[in-house]
Amino acid sequence: MKMLEKLKKLEEEASTEISGALDGKTLQEITVKFLGRKGKLTEILRELKNLPAEEKRVAGKTANELKLFLQEKISEKTESLLNARFEKLAEDEWIDPTQPGIEAQRGTLHPLTKFIREAEKVFAGMGFTIASGPQIEDDFHNFTALNIPADHPARDAQDTLFLSNEAGKLLRTQTSSVQIRWMEERKPPFRIVAPGRVFRKDDFDASHSPMFHQLEGLVVDRKISLANMKAVMEAAVKRLIAPEAKFRFRTSYFPFVEPGLEMDMSCTICGGGGCSVCKQTGWIEIVGCGLVHPNVLRNVKIDPTEWSGFAFGFGIDRMVMLRHGIKDMRLLFENDLRFLRQF
Ligand code: DAH
Repeated sequence: MKMLEKLKKLEEEASTEISGALDGKTLQEITVKFLGRKGKLTEILRELKNLPAEEKRVAGKTANELKLFLQEKISEKTESLLNARFEKLAEDEWIDPTQPGIEAQRGTLHPLTKFIREAEKVFAGMGFTIASGPQIEDDFHNFTALNIPADHPARDAQDTLFLSNEAGKLLRTQTSSVQIRWMEERKPPFRIVAPGRVFRKDDFDASHSPMFHQLEGLVVDRKISLANMKAVMEAAVKRLIAPEAKFRFRTSYFPFVEPGLEMDMSCTICGGGGCSVCKQTGWIEIVGCGLVHPNVLRNVKIDPTEWSGFAFGFGIDRMVMLRHGIKDMRLLFENDLRFLRQF
């Protein structure tokens, strides 16, 4: 019978093409070619209506079976192509999740950060709280409340970076401003240290930077004396820089302390004999300090007849330079990894 032969031929042709298809796109084209609205099988089905009844019945059944058969074959082939693709992927992109990872390169803490953290630990061990304040300050906290008079040279535009877009605001020139911020909000007694950045209109050279770091200290309690101050500061510097160092205190002037002192440490480089670091004196200036001026206490409404205290301010950058024998301050701020990786 002609129609059945046609179907047989079609089955062979379609089967061969399906088996030979290499990808999903080809399979789709095959589907359209044989089973689509204008496909070969559909065409044959259209011819059925011209056949005599019996033939039509047999051929129709066969054609429908063929349609199901081809659909099935195509979906099997689709699945097997997919599987093959996954297998290839699994092979090409095979990884071993049990392999140990590649260790990430570790950074190190900046020597300034390290020093600050150590200092915080040392002072915390002596009962100090860590405090901080804003880097953008106002005149009151940076100067006035600290008993720095209006004609004091520190207020000169030569030294202070004033903000041009905000009247009365400046970049703090000293961490001493944190003393005021702390005392305004609390009642004594207290012991705090406040490390942080300060800014001055300085050059950027081997021993200056317009941004540097200080560590402020403040103790207010009853009957605080210079003896307390000396004990605390010597203990701290010994632990932080040089256990064998000797110390001396010289009178100095800072508006917010009275008396004001400067603490010197025997030169750790030459041991006190004299060298270029200590400028042949055998001593290195490390920290300004003194007993809190009664005016400062009054400015924050603390009664100076009841309370007294001491304060100090370390220059952190200089300490770190001393500690590591760093000759040029700029190295601390240039972010040169060859330098930083040494710590
Ligand atoms: N603020 C001072 C400065 O920037 C350092 C200082 C000196 C802080 C004496 C103090 C102090 O608390 O008592 O030079």
